[in-house]
Amino acid sequence: MAFDPIQLIIYILPAYFANAAPVLFGGGTPIDFNSKWSDGRRLLGAGKSWRGLASGLVFGTLTGLVLSSLFRDPTYALLGMSLSAGAMFGDIFGSFLKRRMGMKQGQPSIILDQLFFVLFAMLAGAWVYVPDAYGIVFILLLTYILHALSNFVANRAGLKRVPW
Ligand code: CTP
Ligand code: MG
Repeated sequence: MAFDPIQLIIYILPAYFANAAPVLFGGGTPIDFNSKWSDGRRLLGAGKSWRGLASGLVFGTLTGLVLSSLFRDPTYALLGMSLSAGAMFGDIFGSFLKRRMGMKQGQPSIILDQLFFVLFAMLAGAWVYVPDAYGIVFILLLTYILHALSNFVANRAGLKRVPW
């Protein structure tokens, strides 16, 4: 398939919805149940909640279902589930690494905050479909720009304490 930005955006949409949902619906019991790692720091931190995780999986999967009925292609449903599971894993793994590096909750890390979730989403979806190298680079660049933009908006709207 030739390089098709629109097709690539549609493909990665479930990962974006999965990653955005927790900002709106997250909160409550943390995934790590307040537990600490051997270094004395939180395992994941208060920014990773069960409700956030569940909302990400639900919204990412729903996005895939909508796309699959829109384009009459069940591939999108499989991709939706896989991409959102991968996105949530990458987001949580990113926080785990941030805590191990001694970074406070909300402290920014371009790679771990903005690229990890989408990389792991693409990995998890690879059994269904994976873009070529140009497509992957396009998605990483797009994600970087959109993430910066959406965090700025979320901060201005009072949803996020810091603009990153
Ligand atoms: N969120 C959540 N559950 C998740 C992921 C996110 O409840 N699994 C919510 C939290 O309210 C979090 C916000 O979405 O504060 C923004 O998410 P993110 O930027 O990933 O977390 P941070 O608070 O920045 O924490 P960290 O430093 O661990 O990335
Ligand atoms: Mg953050």
